[in-house]
Amino acid sequence: MSNVIIVGAQWGDEGKGKIVDVLTERADVVARYQGGNNAGHTVVIGNDKYILHLIPSGILHKGKQCIIGNGVVIDPASLIKEMDGLIEKAIDFEGNFFISKSAHIVMPYHIALDQQCESKKAASKIGTTGRGIGPAYTDKIARHGIRAADLLNPAVFRQKLEANLEIANFVLTNYYKAETLDAETIYAQYMKYAERLGKYIADTDILINDAIDTDKKILFEGAQGTLLDVDHGTYPFVTSSNTTAGGACIGMGIGPTKIKRVLGIAKAYTTRVGEGPFPTEMKDALGESIRQKGGEFGATTGRARRCGWLDVVILRHSARINGLTGIALTKLDILDGMDKLKICVGYKYNGETTEHFPKEIDIVQNSEPVYIELDGWKESTLGIKSFDKLPENAKKYIRKIEELSGVSIDIISTGQKRDEIIVLREQL
Ligand code: IMP
Repeated sequence: MSNVIIVGAQWGDEGKGKIVDVLTERADVVARYQGGNNAGHTVVIGNDKYILHLIPSGILHKGKQCIIGNGVVIDPASLIKEMDGLIEKAIDFEGNFFISKSAHIVMPYHIALDQQCESKKAASKIGTTGRGIGPAYTDKIARHGIRAADLLNPAVFRQKLEANLEIANFVLTNYYKAETLDAETIYAQYMKYAERLGKYIADTDILINDAIDTDKKILFEGAQGTLLDVDHGTYPFVTSSNTTAGGACIGMGIGPTKIKRVLGIAKAYTTRVGEGPFPTEMKDALGESIRQKGGEFGATTGRARRCGWLDVVILRHSARINGLTGIALTKLDILDGMDKLKICVGYKYNGETTEHFPKEIDIVQNSEPVYIELDGWKESTLGIKSFDKLPENAKKYIRKIEELSGVSIDIISTGQKRDEIIVLREQL
């Protein structure tokens, strides 16, 4: 058995796209198990930059099987647009790409409800991507969602659409004072999507379990990050899926006994996009310089990411909830040239210090980070490919993170490109 779940160990945007892309070289199958087109995975190959939202990054490698599992919510318009962009660049989908019959479909009323809800909440908004993710998962849990298999059965699709739209239009007009949506228009649109996507819709639970049973190498590609998990994140400032390792089992239809490794991706500092508490946030010139140097702007919405020091309270939480077997530390080069580096090792609240990530959002919000300080390094780490060549203080920083988090650092990313990487332990 050779497989690895890739999870974001912080608030998402840790650089999972590149790590997945690098690991894909050794993989036979790459599978997405949760989230939707709220995600944005950036992969740089040569001089080409690809931003993938729904399609597993494995598609950029020839001949790899790419699966969108049942745990994903799919906006077909967005998926088709993404496919077309890749086909233009000669990326091949035929025989390589599969969509779970049980994956839920994002409908136009989900997007309208998401956006209306956010604008009504104003000051208390979550800062969603506005892609309809929350309402799509709401329908799934409420047991009246529309699944990919329904796209292939026009009568069932129409009946579900009309029933759901009646409720959505009622809420849109009566509560949000917004415009209604038209069932006929949506039906016609979605039947076109069905025609295009139908051949990819499959029993992906069978495909993935067969792949495991025949010793294929599998990468489970998570989106977002641990602190955006609906159960284990900074609720309610989270997304609506299980972004943590357990989500891979549910979102693909595989048993926990079939998982070999869980690799947490963590930036060498911390970022967050959207609202919600962020104890180590730097609201000063240093935070701004990291944002600029690290290109910390959302791949999906273009929003500026909030930047802060590395927080091992979060990494320990992540290690525990995900059962991390290793960490891939990304964007080390962005910290080049700093005099001092801080690492948050605890939160102080009401005079008491805790090393555990609090469940209470107000405690996270009002905690004061407890830092240790390390010397920085002046040399460039950009593109370094072996641990020995790193500046001594960069090595110390990495070893300290390992010691404090209790997890070994298996991979270090030292730049945007595929080969700007140090691999200390192979994953597949
Ligand atoms: P939603 O997933 O669009 O409902 O947004 C909920 C929260 O998750 C917001 O704070 C978003 O900014 C955040 N979020 C969703 N997807 C991503 C991602 O891929 N990276 C980082 N943050 C994300």
